[in-house]
Amino acid sequence: MSKPHILLARAVFPEIVDKLARHFHVAANQSDVVWTQAQLIEQLKGQHGAFTTGGDQIDAAVLAASPELRICANMAVGYNNFDLEAMTRAGVLGTNAPDVLTETTADFGFALLMATARRITESEHYLRAGRWTKWSYDLFAGADIHGATLGILGMGRIGQGIARRGAHGFGMKVVYHNRSQLASDVEADLNARYVSKQELLEVADHLVLVLPYSPSSHHAIGAAELASMKPTATLVNIARGGIVDDAALAQALRNKTIAAAGLDVFEGEPQLHPELLKASNVVLTPHIASASIPTRLAMANLAADNLIAFFTGQPLLTPLNPGVLTAGLTAQPSAPASRT
Ligand code: DGY
Repeated sequence: MSKPHILLARAVFPEIVDKLARHFHVAANQSDVVWTQAQLIEQLKGQHGAFTTGGDQIDAAVLAASPELRICANMAVGYNNFDLEAMTRAGVLGTNAPDVLTETTADFGFALLMATARRITESEHYLRAGRWTKWSYDLFAGADIHGATLGILGMGRIGQGIARRGAHGFGMKVVYHNRSQLASDVEADLNARYVSKQELLEVADHLVLVLPYSPSSHHAIGAAELASMKPTATLVNIARGGIVDDAALAQALRNKTIAAAGLDVFEGEPQLHPELLKASNVVLTPHIASASIPTRLAMANLAADNLIAFFTGQPLLTPLNPGVLTAGLTAQPSAPASRT
């Protein structure tokens, strides 16, 4: 039987390409071209599986044009690039890459919080520009982290990692809002108190966003929410662009409605709202929260292992819509047959 065909939609570590090539015919986009939807559809022709990243949109149009496709393995924990309902209807499995990035992403969330509250990049730019002429009592004076109230919107694995760092490392009080409340022993360990979203906005000295993007979290932080925050507060977004209304945030930063923001994700990235680029009280990073070498390698391995598991008839490691298998919509893994 011939090997299944797999598309790697973006460049990835060479050892991952080699690993997949031991099992599949691999078409790898190692020149890392960011394809349009039409190009992605063209590239998916005849492919049985796809290794995707968060920017590769798998929607109804792509699925309709790719009848042989049976599984998409995302090298990301977030999967808002998948239209999961359309995939399930089409009998296409989706997998993501949770857990392996939790601690690295929590490290980064905390680093971004500290850089923002303590004005690290702003002061470095000032120094590099040759503007430092004397020590002053209030030069780049920012907000304290230790002992402050840490707010977390979205208390999943990464949110809990950030809470743990704040509570155990910096003696912070933690308040959080989430779809569901944590068990009381977990709350006690994290020094965390469940509050309404409104209370979270009002009491947090530093608010970190770690919730998944969906239509219901679109602009979860807009002008009204920013106006509810303390004028001394810091906002950090390591979740997804679109959760914050970037235009409203740029205005709030300009008007000093809040003190500062740290942003790793943006609406319409890699484009940024031009007013954010102009603001000095914002730290900007290019969607790198999970970007340590060991973690990115672990994420890529997990996506690759899901593809290998599926096509060798093993259980998927991190399935998003396993009902596809039980509903028998997808052809047997051992045979790379068309869905149609
Ligand atoms: C994720 O894993 O969701 C990160 O944002 C990388 O895309």
